[in-house]
Amino acid sequence: MEKKQNGFASGLGFILAAAGSAVGLGNLWGFPYKTHANGGAAFVLVYVACVLFIGIVTMLCEIYIGRRAKANPVTAFKFASSKIGWFGVLAVIIPGFISCYYAVLGGYTVRFTVNSFGTNAGSFVSFAEKEWLVILFTAVFIGTALLVVMGGVKDGIEKSSKVLMPALFIILVGTVIFSLSLGEGVSEGLAFYMKPDFSKLSGSGILAAMGQAFYSLSLGMGAMVAYGSYTGKEVNLLKSTAMICLCDTGVALLAGFAIFPAVYHYTATTGLEAGSFQGVGLMFQTLPLVFEDLGFIGKVIQFFFFFMVSIAAVTSVISLFEVVSQFFIQKFRIRRKKVVMAVAVVAVLISVPIGISLGQVLGGKENAIVIFGQNLLDLFDIITNTVLMPVCAFFSCITVGWIIGPKKFSREMEQDGQKLGLFSSLFSVMVKFVTPLLILAIEIFGVYDLVFPVVDSARSFSANGLGITLSAYGLLALGTVIYFVFLKNSDTGTNEDETRAEK
Ligand code: PHE
Repeated sequence: MEKKQNGFASGLGFILAAAGSAVGLGNLWGFPYKTHANGGAAFVLVYVACVLFIGIVTMLCEIYIGRRAKANPVTAFKFASSKIGWFGVLAVIIPGFISCYYAVLGGYTVRFTVNSFGTNAGSFVSFAEKEWLVILFTAVFIGTALLVVMGGVKDGIEKSSKVLMPALFIILVGTVIFSLSLGEGVSEGLAFYMKPDFSKLSGSGILAAMGQAFYSLSLGMGAMVAYGSYTGKEVNLLKSTAMICLCDTGVALLAGFAIFPAVYHYTATTGLEAGSFQGVGLMFQTLPLVFEDLGFIGKVIQFFFFFMVSIAAVTSVISLFEVVSQFFIQKFRIRRKKVVMAVAVVAVLISVPIGISLGQVLGGKENAIVIFGQNLLDLFDIITNTVLMPVCAFFSCITVGWIIGPKKFSREMEQDGQKLGLFSSLFSVMVKFVTPLLILAIEIFGVYDLVFPVVDSARSFSANGLGITLSAYGLLALGTVIYFVFLKNSDTGTNEDETRAEK
């Protein structure tokens, strides 16, 4: 009789779940606003190049590291070499941090969905300031993710992804069709999005494209290591990686087709500026104005749009919870339900100050909770995405390129029945040199930009930027110490241990 396996039941299930992790706020909101901030089409081209040259290689590494060990990231890196188990700690810490602020934004999307037929237009700041409401919606959002992750990989994550991802895709395509049919202004929107003007793309734009590619693909945060660990030999890693990257990039590109024509239509027909196109403003300020202007049909589209964004956000936060839960389930052999519950409670508690701080800063309150000049949401975001995520992605590449080695990688892939052929030598060069060097560049320039930001078109030192950088590296150091004191010589568990814990 076949042993009860703790993992994805099918290759398609894995692809959809991993695509669910990848497709998130980063695609539907981050990508369009960053494209806008960095001049349009040229940014898009650089972004796609980053996915092709850095994203695919790194994702393959992460899934492979997880799958060969069939275990949480800490054990998985240990399995690659007993010297590098500490790489894995970062891959558990980062998702823990991201999930708390991601959930606050997830809560916003739920509230905007629920409120679609009411007044989303212009209500952003007043909502953000209502602390209890923000906490409530964040908790609802986290609760939904909790229920899914509690169900386990096969019956929770995989099953829900199989329904939610196709739904997301259908709604997105519908939104694109609607947006393209708006008439006036649409062609200007398309031109902005599709005609590259490289003079508008700066060095920091290129950097933003690289960082965005990582974030969007859920790389450097343990998610792909964890999901990869649940795949069996029958799953073709190369094809799956290609499919996941294709889905993720496809959704990001489609999001641009949904948003730019609509916003340009709004400005063309009303003569009004669409409002803030920056950061949180695009999704929660600009788009509701655009929808509002379209009357009842606009409200219907708005409902589906925010519903889709909520789906995207929830399937992403699920993967973050899974990474953290997987580690604790396996390390301490505790039942999944208990661990997930604890993770969710902690996430809600930490998200409270984050939500409050963001609301205070958006509302322009004096004495708002800020650290190093940032509201807590941006602070967490910068620490994880600008500073730590490239480090973690770098570790993944180095592990496959230099510690396991591309030869062994190819051999193991072939043992699993996957012929790599020509790809093998290309991969070898990429994983050893090209990709890690590019990631290093992202890290160095990212930190440089933080410590010496451009103010009034000149670079000047920022003590806050330095503070953030040092805190992030401090966290890395703390994780490493924890590893060497508590985890190095102890059994950190594998996927098998979950099956045992449940008995
Ligand atoms: N990739 C997700 C997005 O695009 C964010 C995310 C990062 C989710 C890391 C999980 C892990 O929004």
